[in-house]
Amino acid sequence: MLEIAYADWLNLGFRWLHVIAGISWIGTSFYFIFLDLSLRKHASLPQGVGGESWNVHGGGFYLMRKYTVAPAEMPKELHWFKYEAYFTWLSGFALLAVIYYWGAESYLIDKEVLDLQSWEAILISVGFFAGGWIVYDLLCRSPFSSHELLLSAAVFVLIAFSAYFLTHLFSGRAAFVHVGAMVGTIMVGNVFFIIIPNQKKVVKSLLAGEEPDPRLGAMGKHRSTHNNYLTLPVILMMISQHYPMLYDNDNSWLVVTLILLVGASIRHFFNLMHTGREIKTLRWQWPTAVVLMAFLVVYLSWQPAVDASTEVEVPTATDVVAIAQVHCASCHAVKTTDPDVKKAPGGVMLETVEDLRKHSTGVLKQSVLSRAMPLGNKTKMTDAERKALGVWIRAGMPDGEE
Ligand code: HEC
Repeated sequence: MLEIAYADWLNLGFRWLHVIAGISWIGTSFYFIFLDLSLRKHASLPQGVGGESWNVHGGGFYLMRKYTVAPAEMPKELHWFKYEAYFTWLSGFALLAVIYYWGAESYLIDKEVLDLQSWEAILISVGFFAGGWIVYDLLCRSPFSSHELLLSAAVFVLIAFSAYFLTHLFSGRAAFVHVGAMVGTIMVGNVFFIIIPNQKKVVKSLLAGEEPDPRLGAMGKHRSTHNNYLTLPVILMMISQHYPMLYDNDNSWLVVTLILLVGASIRHFFNLMHTGREIKTLRWQWPTAVVLMAFLVVYLSWQPAVDASTEVEVPTATDVVAIAQVHCASCHAVKTTDPDVKKAPGGVMLETVEDLRKHSTGVLKQSVLSRAMPLGNKTKMTDAERKALGVWIRAGMPDGEE
């Protein structure tokens, strides 16, 4: 019989598109930030040109010039950069919907965090993305906006607060990806609502033979700089899904905060480097990033979901198989019984003692060191049961007395 796993195929298609669009967007974004910072002024530049930059690539030389407001006349052909951003958002939202809305019961909701119906959770999720953008945009338009540092601090607090809030609404994994997606939405919002419309207004004035308003370009530049500093943290939040140690903890807001600081410091280093400054003025960024990252690693390793290192009686193979049967085999079996899971995920079966031995590292990571599995703790696994699995694995997975 032809059995099509629609969710999996859509997941694959949207993910492929998302990664490609994301690479293109970030690639152009990095390039233009570099270009901007590498512009050099000299006396012979034409009227209206703020600087120029020589680049070499692909067997030829390029001379790039930036007209800070606009050239005196519209060029015949003008290349825009916007679809990369739009498609990154569209494909990302579609992917999120396939995983977290379609599979809301398993992926989005954790009944131990908050007992939500699927529709409620989905509504909150969508509202969150819209709300995040609105608050951010208001901050940028508030009196704060003239103090660059104060504004950055406010945006930083907004993101950390969202992480705190989301971990009290959704599963740890969903909370983390929602923070990333909210920041991503802000970034695309900047392109869609501010940068591109402002550029269109400038083009319109030029065509009408008027002097364009220089504030329009300056505003676009401002938002584009925010996007630049948010890029590295967002990428880590997106790939966090593969790392339960990142998303599965009680203080996600702290993890998010550290990721923001690490990513922004590294970005800052590259930004300064592109301006051509001497490396010795760049002393603090990498050390800061490394120290904060080390702190994150130690902090997260310090608090496994359950402590399986203490001396307690080692359970027998029969005991642990019984636990797996109740808590894992509804999804991880040749014949699954969970209505949302048609095939054992990742081909991981957890029905017999051989299965448990074969996948012991995965079991330890997903169910003992973190509470990533059972998904959404659907089967209500207790910490005592997690600990039993951990102790058995650490004791060398013995058969034990019958
Ligand atoms: C409600 C269904 C469900 C239950 C119950 C469940 N899992 Fe999973 N498990 C999944 C899904 C779905 C994935 C794939 C996750 C993803 O998409 O990243 C998965 C992935 C895994 C993986 C990683 C597989 C890989 O590809 O590397 C391991 C290990 C795992 N589960 C262990 C367990 C253990 C141990 C239990 C029981 C304590 C358990 N799971 C219970 C649904 C479930």
